[in-house]
Amino acid sequence: MAIPGTHTEPPARFEQMLDHMARFEQCHGPGQGQRFFFSPGRVNLFGGHLDYNGGPVMPTAIDRGTFIAARTRPDRLLRMASAFDSQVVEIELDRLPNSPLGGWVDYPLGVVIDLMAGQSRRDGPEPQHGMDILFGGDLPIGSGLSSSASICVGTALMLDAFWDLGLSQVERVHSALRAERSFVGVQCGIMDPYAIGCAREGHLLWLDCKDESIEFLPIDHDRLSILVTNTGVQRTLAASEFNRRVEQCSLAFEALRMACPTATCLRDIPLEVLEDHRGSLDSVLANRAEHVIRETRRTFEAREHLLAGNSQGMGDCMTQTHESLRRLYEVSCPELDLLVEAAEACPGAYGARLTGAGFGGCTVTLVSRGEEEKVRGVLKARFQGRFGVLPQVEVFEGDPGPREIFGF
Ligand code: GLA
Repeated sequence: MAIPGTHTEPPARFEQMLDHMARFEQCHGPGQGQRFFFSPGRVNLFGGHLDYNGGPVMPTAIDRGTFIAARTRPDRLLRMASAFDSQVVEIELDRLPNSPLGGWVDYPLGVVIDLMAGQSRRDGPEPQHGMDILFGGDLPIGSGLSSSASICVGTALMLDAFWDLGLSQVERVHSALRAERSFVGVQCGIMDPYAIGCAREGHLLWLDCKDESIEFLPIDHDRLSILVTNTGVQRTLAASEFNRRVEQCSLAFEALRMACPTATCLRDIPLEVLEDHRGSLDSVLANRAEHVIRETRRTFEAREHLLAGNSQGMGDCMTQTHESLRRLYEVSCPELDLLVEAAEACPGAYGARLTGAGFGGCTVTLVSRGEEEKVRGVLKARFQGRFGVLPQVEVFEGDPGPREIFGF
């Protein structure tokens, strides 16, 4: 058993992997040459809804994610299965579809199609063999922890390894992005695949979405814990409302750019310009623009707090972000608001905000290491008292990013 890299996998991960490999054999039959890959999810601590406005974001990968077991087949069939679904999808490599089939399989399929097209564009050798694949994992799906980018970036890594493509991290990130945008048809921003594909353990990723430059900013996990609370609220509005926010921001930018000819995205518009033009701008568009402009400043401020080791300053920025996402950007819900309010009043918690697109899903709370149980107890009790159900509250550690864990 080969363990590349220096990261030590937690013992529980090996049990999960053995279980996943056993399921793989149940699904695809016994054989040799199986390889196992892990691709994390992510939480975003700073920079809410800034990526598609060219702003900076500060996400980090988490130690929950997608498991991918795979092996080569002698023929040219692609057999894709999920541990969460009994149906096995079979597709001939020579007859890849042009449009989505519907369902989870579109995400990895989009990556297969993208990487095959890339090989033919580069005149690279076409993959000769099909594959048996089983996806699974321990990341809550559809909760704002980026299960879709996790499966796409993980699939890009797995195919890169099997097909010997020699891709860089950033090339895998862009393949995942193209799969989601062009094949699945979701207008997602660049943050999620970058947060996952370019993760570094013990660091937040600083991604400036205007020029896609990245930096790794250390976060002191001996002093800080990341608590994720799942409201259990289904993000049914997330896709349609997310696309509306993208559209509204682009309209706001079109209206304001005249007053600021050097601006190339909404992040570049000074607050003074917005204030001068507020009267002539639709009030919803003005609110969306105000969030983006203030959130950009706040993200730079949070970066300074992080570098100075000012945990309370970071927490305050998160809570202000949440308030802005609630009031100006209108992507929150009462369950998320209650958890943020409860964290704000709880000693040991520095601050909290919704993570991901919003409209349900999870909050992320920054907690002083050692105080997790106390904070968890407060969040559960307040949530149960108001909504009558216990939310899931978990401590997430960081993660070094997508990797092959073993092959045999
Ligand atoms: C979703 C999108 C990201 C980002 C966040 C909001 O997770 O996929 O690109 O826009 O919402 O910060």
